[in-house]
Amino acid sequence: MFGGKNILLGITGGIAAYKTTFLVRLLIKAGADVKVVLTESAGSFVSPLTLATLSKNPVLTSFVKEEEHITDWNNHVELGLWADLMLIAPATANTLSKMANGVCDNLLLAVYLSAKCPVFFAPAMDLDMYQHPSTQVSFEKLRSFGNVIIPATSGELASGLYGEGRMAEPEDIIVFIQEHLAQGLPLHNKKVLVTAGPTYEAIDPVRFIGNHSSGLMGYEIAKASADLGAQVILVSGPSHLNVTHPAINLQRVVSAEQMYHTAHEHFPETDIAVCAAAVSDYRPRTVADQKIKKEENELTLELVKNKDILLSLGEQKKDQYLVGFALETENEIENAKKKLKKKNLDAIVLNSLNDTGAGFGKSTNKITFIDKNLNLTAFDVKEKSVVASDILKEIINRIHA
Ligand code: CTP
Repeated sequence: MFGGKNILLGITGGIAAYKTTFLVRLLIKAGADVKVVLTESAGSFVSPLTLATLSKNPVLTSFVKEEEHITDWNNHVELGLWADLMLIAPATANTLSKMANGVCDNLLLAVYLSAKCPVFFAPAMDLDMYQHPSTQVSFEKLRSFGNVIIPATSGELASGLYGEGRMAEPEDIIVFIQEHLAQGLPLHNKKVLVTAGPTYEAIDPVRFIGNHSSGLMGYEIAKASADLGAQVILVSGPSHLNVTHPAINLQRVVSAEQMYHTAHEHFPETDIAVCAAAVSDYRPRTVADQKIKKEENELTLELVKNKDILLSLGEQKKDQYLVGFALETENEIENAKKKLKKKNLDAIVLNSLNDTGAGFGKSTNKITFIDKNLNLTAFDVKEKSVVASDILKEIINRIHA
């Protein structure tokens, strides 16, 4: 969730500031680009050099770049716009009160007022300060601005007193933000089932019937769904691809029969199913126990039809939004529409083999999205990762309509 995101960490002057070194480390480990702005007093609690080293960016405190000429300044507007997310931790009563009242007497406050991104703050102060009506008014006001409070926890405080006011632990701050952001994602609490890749149909212990599908389109759909907050079951035929996203449960299968059973196992609790696999339509009637020897001049394999996974899901469909793929070479739109009706789909994604840049083994695809009302949306040739986002946008627009 933090991968590739620009995160601005504002640190104010409280003893909990020493914990921000761990916070920076965790954000960097999660793939974020982190810039740190310190108030002047925060520098007494945590070393700017440590923070600069961990964040791999200069740490900023004042409007003027100290090491350079007086006319060179740290642009608070640019910093505010750079950030995808601003986190103020620890947030002292003093800074929170200033934020709530639009006071702008240091760089951190100017950046806060310039930031258009979501703002989270993790208060840290003594228990009586935390409970004071004035502090509570600051919290309320900041909430009304859309800022999000990461509540302080209870425990022993720097004063020696015991109570509420400890800054949340860095790991908990990260989890809190992740959970909060996840709730705003369009596929939060949704389960997505994706089939991907080819299937291999055994002839004997060493040979099979297969196809050139790499699985990339299906894997990209799985990743895009997970990035949008879904829990994903990815049922994949043999593919060299892998997944790293924690919300994707990869179930590897080999044959169409195995893919059929795994897809059906998960379909009842699925909200959206996208069948992107290039399933073998036929399999050998019998599988030889031993390797077939090249004895005769001719060898005939008898093939029998595999079950159509998509068709059978269409027959069992209740509230699921079911999407299939069609790969056509002629009468593309008409054939795709027929498939959509025959398999009881909510939408079909048409790839035409006549389009350069579309199809197997390529990193790009060119699709037309056709919904059950036969509305068509045609897209240009794009990277499959972008095609996956386009497909999910079309689905989300329809399930939320
Ligand atoms: N599909 C499936 N199980 C099969 C065959 C296909 O789930 N045994 C799914 C594919 O994942 C894809 C869609 O059905 O979503 C493709 O439909 P299909 O009828 O196989 O069309 P084509 O592959 O385009 O082939 P044909 O036109 O020969 O039917």
